[in-house]
Amino acid sequence: MSEAVRRVGIVGIGNVGKAAASAILHENIADELYISDIDTERAKGEAFDFADSIELTPSRTRVAEVPLAGLAVCDVILVAVTERKKVISDSRLELLKGSAAITYDIVPKLRKAGFKGKYVIATNPCDIITYLFYKLSGLPKNHVIGTGTALDSMRFRRLLSKAIGNVDPRSINAFMVGEHGDSQIAAWSHVTVGGQPLDQFEADNADVFPKINREEVEDAARHFGWEIHKRKGNTQFGIGNELAFFARSILNDARIVTAASVVQNGEYGQHDLAIGVPIVLGRNGVEKIIRYQLSEKEWEGFSASADLIKRYTTQTLE
Ligand code: LAC
Repeated sequence: MSEAVRRVGIVGIGNVGKAAASAILHENIADELYISDIDTERAKGEAFDFADSIELTPSRTRVAEVPLAGLAVCDVILVAVTERKKVISDSRLELLKGSAAITYDIVPKLRKAGFKGKYVIATNPCDIITYLFYKLSGLPKNHVIGTGTALDSMRFRRLLSKAIGNVDPRSINAFMVGEHGDSQIAAWSHVTVGGQPLDQFEADNADVFPKINREEVEDAARHFGWEIHKRKGNTQFGIGNELAFFARSILNDARIVTAASVVQNGEYGQHDLAIGVPIVLGRNGVEKIIRYQLSEKEWEGFSASADLIKRYTTQTLE
């Protein structure tokens, strides 16, 4: 990582890439922001447009459109590519073919160009594409990070917050784990509010708010992306801000705990796949995978989710 100049790249400047770029400028996360897209003219237009607003941001970030290989100088590359105009009806897995084809195209090129930084991947289906990035990039597994269930976990905390008298979601420790998709599960056994286990917090407050309908909350967190998708045809700001948060955490060596899709090496009993679990995120990317002792029911759900990811990942590698 360069000492003084913070360089962030974004590949794919569609709805998500643009939201990420905007967050990066407004949060002063980078000194240089490089944008690359297969549609170079469009990317140039976006870069010009962002440059116009610099005076109104707290940053002096230089924004430029670059060819793909130009991203190789970056500390962090945020991946927001997606098959153009692809409409999905039911599952993020419908994006696999197109996303995998783009991955097979761009990762070897960036490898050849000498990229040695961290990848943060939002492209869906996130877990499978993250593993593919790992396999093709030649980078260590802790340098290739999918946003995975990070956003689902924020949705989960927001829903929990609402259920327990609007306690600030940041004071709630709660994560969705597994696939960034329909098979993800809530790690209820590890939910705490200000450090107090949720069961106890609920019991102490039984007279203040009704008992949480856990199935309903979990399901709502799992499917909230669709609530947005069916209304506006995509999701953009949650995930764009999430990408910026990952870049900031890496560049600032925040060592913050978040859920993320990371390549497994026996943690959670899994190998050869990337899956959403809690991690410590810092300068070295995945500083640590936090191993939860999930309940029996949670293990069941997590393992089924891992099996599904594995099945699709294997197909993609063949
Ligand atoms: C979502 C997209 C990023 O859940 O899959 O918003």
